[in-house]
Amino acid sequence: MNSATASYMPRLLPLRLPRVCVAVIGSDASNMIEKAEAVVRDNSFLEFRLDYLSKPELALPKIKRFMETHPGTVAIATCRRVAGGGKFRGSIASQLNILTKAAASGCQLLDMELQTASKCKPPQLLKLRSRAALILSYHDFRATRKLEEILEKMLKYPADFYKVVSTATTLSDNVTMMKFLQTQSDKHALIGLCMGEQGIISRVLSVRAGSVFTFGAVSADLKTAPGQISAGELRSIYRIDQVDAATRVYGVAGDPIEHSLSPVIMNTALRRENVNGVYLPLHAKTLKDLMRCVREIPLHGLSVTMPYKQSILAHLDNTDAHTTKIGACNTVVRGQDGKLYGFNTDAAGVVRPLEQRLSIENAKVLVLGAGGAARAAVFGLKERGAEIWILNRTAVKAQKLARQAKARTIKRADLRKIAFDVIINATSVGMGNTRDCPLKDEEIQARVVFDMVYDPVETHLLQVARAKGIAVIPGVEMFVQQAARQFEIWTGKPAPAGDMLRAVTIALQDRVAQKQQKS
Ligand code: ATR
Repeated sequence: MNSATASYMPRLLPLRLPRVCVAVIGSDASNMIEKAEAVVRDNSFLEFRLDYLSKPELALPKIKRFMETHPGTVAIATCRRVAGGGKFRGSIASQLNILTKAAASGCQLLDMELQTASKCKPPQLLKLRSRAALILSYHDFRATRKLEEILEKMLKYPADFYKVVSTATTLSDNVTMMKFLQTQSDKHALIGLCMGEQGIISRVLSVRAGSVFTFGAVSADLKTAPGQISAGELRSIYRIDQVDAATRVYGVAGDPIEHSLSPVIMNTALRRENVNGVYLPLHAKTLKDLMRCVREIPLHGLSVTMPYKQSILAHLDNTDAHTTKIGACNTVVRGQDGKLYGFNTDAAGVVRPLEQRLSIENAKVLVLGAGGAARAAVFGLKERGAEIWILNRTAVKAQKLARQAKARTIKRADLRKIAFDVIINATSVGMGNTRDCPLKDEEIQARVVFDMVYDPVETHLLQVARAKGIAVIPGVEMFVQQAARQFEIWTGKPAPAGDMLRAVTIALQDRVAQKQQKS
């Protein structure tokens, strides 16, 4: 076969390749095929990671049978050697042998790392390429650097696709990867993305920057690369099949961000309201890195969480009076003029659920805590005419907030002297477990008890209040309402709060189930 016949592949394959390739691994060959069977109905594009098997050759007859019974499937065979970042410990000759057999078993694409290619003779590569399309790959497990130089080295070896995978150590590394794809993808068929927790931006957006496809895992616990997300999540949460040049990018920025439920809730809202947008978790280790991403991607809207709610203010072009008073911003929107505007929707998150239960004007409200969450509650409710008492572990912080907001402080010993309509827990007490409680059982006396803690859904404080017949507002309602207000600011559409609440409740239930499974 000559090289002219070999080169029909690149013209055909990109046109019909799905955007997500699911990397399939298994404890042995049968297990790998079982996993492939489980995902093939929703994913017609698979990568068999033969290097994960102790005896890769044993998988080949099974792959052949699989490909015959699933004729619409496109498969990559990968048997990456340790030197190239894989797990295969055999020689280059045996790697080539396995890849050749994989092509004969029906795999239309073969992955070979640059390290192997550089040790092969040109006829060996040509021979392989005459049997299937060749993906020449390079992985940098440390950083995102010298992408152009790497590509230049790779181009010495004729291949159908060039796959450049780096590691994001900052959010900006995703920008570097996507600029690389944008400038090079009209000249070469490229696959590019960043690994690592901070690489999620490129895993979702690289396809619109020019990557022919991206990779997803079979499931969250079967990842083949750091930071990989499941193909199911790429499709259902991030709607990768719809991402295009017009898709607006939103995100939640904080440190840590891993456990944030904002992506679930916001992507649900975007999907439900047919907004061409995608919302990503952004693990920002510095504000400088975050702001570069906001500028360069560019981001249309940002949810801001710990520890940047205060420090981001200095980077915004304008903030509303309410946000300035609170001194913290949890919502950024890019205006049509390109400027960044800051808002605080935490106050709406407190006010909205409460006003559904009682009239806030003149209501007697006890706020526990004097941190960021408490500030949003105090200023938000004060603006609606509530009478507020603040109790905090550190009394001076309570006094300062009370002075600023024209509220009062109260000593713990005096709690029983006032008949509160509402008690709001704005401390972090109760977060993560159901035993801690900011008040003693006998101190919990009010018409409504509102816990801003949302994980667990039913805190000890809420359990006691409920047992006493007091109306309770779980923290998920605040979480949903502050997100709903953000959605409205960004899109100008009413938020589907009911769907958002359902999505977050299910996500929290899943988390509990996962924890129980592990223990
Ligand atoms: P957030 O932005 O979530 O409000 P924060 O600004 O760090 O977070 O505020 C945390 C609040 O929870 C504070 O009011 C804190 O009390 P201190 O001001 O005394 O630190 C309160 N808090 C945290 N842990 C607490 C504990 N174990 N007991 C009582 N209050 C606690």
